[in-house]
Amino acid sequence: FYRSAAAPPSSNFLLLGSSGAGKTAFTSLLEAKSSPASKKSHLTHTSQSSTLVTVGLPPDVPTASNRYRSVNDPSLKETSRNPVRYRVQDTPGHGKLRASQGISQLQAMSHSNDAKIKLRGVLFMVDTAALVDETTLRDSATYLHDVLLILQKRALNKGKSSAKVATEVPVLVAANKQDLFTALPPGSVREKLEAEIDRIRKSKTKGLLDASAGSGVETEDDEVLGNDGGLERFSFKLLEEEVGIKVDVVGGAVKGDPNEELGSGVRRWEEWVGLCL
Ligand code: GTP
Ligand code: MG
Repeated sequence: FYRSAAAPPSSNFLLLGSSGAGKTAFTSLLEAKSSPASKKSHLTHTSQSSTLVTVGLPPDVPTASNRYRSVNDPSLKETSRNPVRYRVQDTPGHGKLRASQGISQLQAMSHSNDAKIKLRGVLFMVDTAALVDETTLRDSATYLHDVLLILQKRALNKGKSSAKVATEVPVLVAANKQDLFTALPPGSVREKLEAEIDRIRKSKTKGLLDASAGSGVETEDDEVLGNDGGLERFSFKLLEEEVGIKVDVVGGAVKGDPNEELGSGVRRWEEWVGLCL
């Protein structure tokens, strides 16, 4: 029924992350939760194209605009009949499809002034059980690095031009598959990603220096994630302090305990989404 109604114009979220992280499973879960009657199910196999879904926020999840409302506020009842809707763009995580899909959609959405495709946040999903593997860690960290660099360029350019100041696009690292006993806890996921991004940044800085050596062209700081010229050790805190981009790492599970309520494992990600709305 809500498909016929106009979607709220400016509540878009982009879902990125390596192949197998659980993005499509998450998208399907959100859809199933918002319209339990729907028989639709997305096949969870490697995605080759992107899908846009419109889903509803559970009525008891606060949004930035209603977080101070009292539980007796009659408008809360209204919310449960007419949930806050937002749109999630699921993208394929395969390395060969990133440039043409996730990355190019991020470029388009984050630079657009069109309210209809205004980006509210980026959900970057990782498989926390697979992150112990060096190759998977490098793959995820490289993708996340590239995503953050695009957001950094957007943030820094905006400061230079006189264009109207918009808020930065926040990033949620959705540390998925916390149900598996081999899963790394969110704290170690954060540390591993930061350490790996630091390595990527170091080799990139060195590459830029080598390339500019003798050419008389100075290396631009904004080419280096963190905008500090690579002086400090990289951390998400550094990125927030230097550039204003907030990255949160929050654990969850799309495939949770079957005894628990449907979707309880993604509750904290929905709370993050709510605070962006
Ligand atoms: P691409 O489309 O290739 O980018 O991958 P994807 O991120 O869409 O992954 P997908 O949703 O297809 O999930 C990959 C596999 O992980 C599937 O077999 C899912 O059932 C499984 N999976 C997703 N979430 C969880 C979870 O929280 N726990 C466990 N144990 N498995 C999960
Ligand atoms: Mg997929």
